Amino acid sequence: KKTEIMRIAEKTADDIFKEAGKLLREGKTVAFPTETVYGLGADALNPQAVEQIFIAKGRPADNPLIVHVSNQDQCRQLVSTFTPIARKLAECFWPGPLTIILEKTDMVPYITTGRLETVAIRMPANQIAQNIIEAACKPIAAPSANLSGRPSPTTASHVEEDLKGRIDAIVDGGEVEIGVESTVVDARGEVPVILRPGKISAEDIQQCTNSEVCIGYAKMDHTKKPLSPGMKYTHYSPSAKVILVQGKAKDVSAKIAYLVGKTKKEQERAGLLLTEEIQNDFLLEEKLSIGQATKPETAAKRIFAGLREMDSKGMDLIIVDGSFTEKGIGTAVLERLQKAADMIITTPRM
Ligand code: TXA
Ligand code: MG
Repeated sequence: KKTEIMRIAEKTADDIFKEAGKLLREGKTVAFPTETVYGLGADALNPQAVEQIFIAKGRPADNPLIVHVSNQDQCRQLVSTFTPIARKLAECFWPGPLTIILEKTDMVPYITTGRLETVAIRMPANQIAQNIIEAACKPIAAPSANLSGRPSPTTASHVEEDLKGRIDAIVDGGEVEIGVESTVVDARGEVPVILRPGKISAEDIQQCTNSEVCIGYAKMDHTKKPLSPGMKYTHYSPSAKVILVQGKAKDVSAKIAYLVGKTKKEQERAGLLLTEEIQNDFLLEEKLSIGQATKPETAAKRIFAGLREMDSKGMDLIIVDGSFTEKGIGTAVLERLQKAADMIITTPRM
């Protein structure tokens, strides 16, 4: 496939939106930025178009897609009941990085939902995403625009790296604002169930709905049946082996120093993703900063790009400093890292 690349900085934005909208209406695949990560879009109601997403990404057929809308009316026709909880969530967080799961109508093809009777819906806040969905005049299915199993793309060049030649177009709108994917919430019942953590936290959802909140994503527990089909697959994995070291800065730094020494002895190369606080403990190593430990927003923006960069440098091992705060978006970043990791070390040992 020839992948057309449209850069917002170079062409008039309106022409790009029109062109992207036209391609989507014709059943083509178009990658575009959202506030969270880049998505790979196709007409959510056209099974042949949606199939192209699964083929391009190499995505398992039972892993359902998120359907993106630009207004509430577009959403109403996709779901059979817009529950009171869903109403509240949409009011608080749409447009924004929140995905709501509800019972689907017959309008939504089963290929889009991975054969489920439910559909995931999100109204993105990013202007480029909104304009493209509006220009398409259709709800747009869009998973993250990476090859299945790879770290999610936060720039258009990440999308090119994975999908050039496999999709019809990429809209380059620069770096995304948030860097981890949307919070996914099942809103069918009385109590919202968080299936994937994101920038919008459990506390945010609790405050909005004034309800108890369930955590439905299993943390490093592989024995339970996954609630969200996406949970059971390898995620965010670069080719290098990933080790996540969690704990207090001082202990994490010591453990990483030990691991680096061991790697050298084995004549392997380690790349480090470190918080600012322990940067200076590693002067001679290949390293990248993920920001201050108290600012997990920075880690969110840098973590996927960092994994990709260390991979492209041919590192055998990527060691990630997990000492940043677990509050707010930090929860989401840690969850992604735990999924990416081949090994998780908590220090001191518990
Ligand atoms: O921020 C985001 O959500 C990005 C941007 C592009 O919008 N999209 C994204 O899509 O992360 P994807 O496909 O990479 O992740 C969708 C997640 C998967 O874990 C999937 O299993 C879950 O949402 N999901 C989708 N539909 C579902 C459903 N009906 N029930 C339960 N989980 C669902
Ligand atoms: Mg994804």
